[in-house]
Amino acid sequence: MKLISGNSNRKLSENIAKRLATPLAEAEIKTFKDGEVFVEIRENVRGEDVFVIQSTSHPANDHLMELLIAIDALTRASASRITAVIPYFGYARQDRKAGPRTPISAKLVANLITTAGADRVLTVDLHAGQIQGFFDIPTDNLFAVNVFADRIRAIQNGRVEDVTVVSPDVGGVVRARSLSKRLGNVPLAIVDKRREQAGVSEVMNIIGDVKSRHCVLFDDIVDSGGTLCNAAQALMDKGAKSVFAYVTHGVLSDGAPERIAKAAALARLVTSDSIQSTREIDACGKIERVEIGGLLAESIRRIANEESVSSLFD
Ligand code: R5P
Repeated sequence: MKLISGNSNRKLSENIAKRLATPLAEAEIKTFKDGEVFVEIRENVRGEDVFVIQSTSHPANDHLMELLIAIDALTRASASRITAVIPYFGYARQDRKAGPRTPISAKLVANLITTAGADRVLTVDLHAGQIQGFFDIPTDNLFAVNVFADRIRAIQNGRVEDVTVVSPDVGGVVRARSLSKRLGNVPLAIVDKRREQAGVSEVMNIIGDVKSRHCVLFDDIVDSGGTLCNAAQALMDKGAKSVFAYVTHGVLSDGAPERIAKAAALARLVTSDSIQSTREIDACGKIERVEIGGLLAESIRRIANEESVSSLFD
């Protein structure tokens, strides 16, 4: 097996490599002054089972091009199988025509990765599970839910009886239910956002009882932080004892760490390390990160050995 790291999240790649006791292959991935990406794999990969690790996080287009060009280089170097390991799959939120004359960019990106020469994809918590179907190659969608369930138990000192898992929107109910199940079927609540009239601000209704409960908001992406901060406030207004948020992909665009730091209703945000941290995130003091390197390394090991990946979540 050979592991190649893009530039999006070198720390996560090194963690995976360490766990697999396989050093990252020598490769140069650089950007010329005019913005073009250049990749040179400096080791023989002929006939190898190669895993290219790259999140298509900010700057999304540069990181996507790095991934595509690395796959192309590996195809031309006669690697026997290329797996695109994409801990965070960007463009996933553009997964349907949201209006007339708009693209389905998630499908386009899936086509690009396949056309570049990837044989398989390994990713984590796709925004919508059906994006797997956008790829015409085997695609494993891992779940960070077990990693978060362990962290919740630790933060709650093993006492999860007072915990209610909350989905921040109706679309996230299946995800929230899976976390509730891992915590021993704790109660579930849903934030139902509604704009009753155009131009009038959204009303947040809470479906379920959250009074005197430790609420755990569970989502796949935190970007501006608006969804979480508003949901946390709505839960506190309904009498919640505390609100913690657990989110797989900490996109945390400009200004989000500050917004989260200022949100009095939100006690803490825990994200995975699928996206590399920034100085702003590290300085926030309220954002904690849990590692998914172990989950990815074990999945890579199983793919390389032709073992079941889904059984990781039984
Ligand atoms: C939406 O469907 C996603 O699951 C997230 O809730 C959303 O992307 C979060 O965005 P923001 O942090 O900007 O509110």
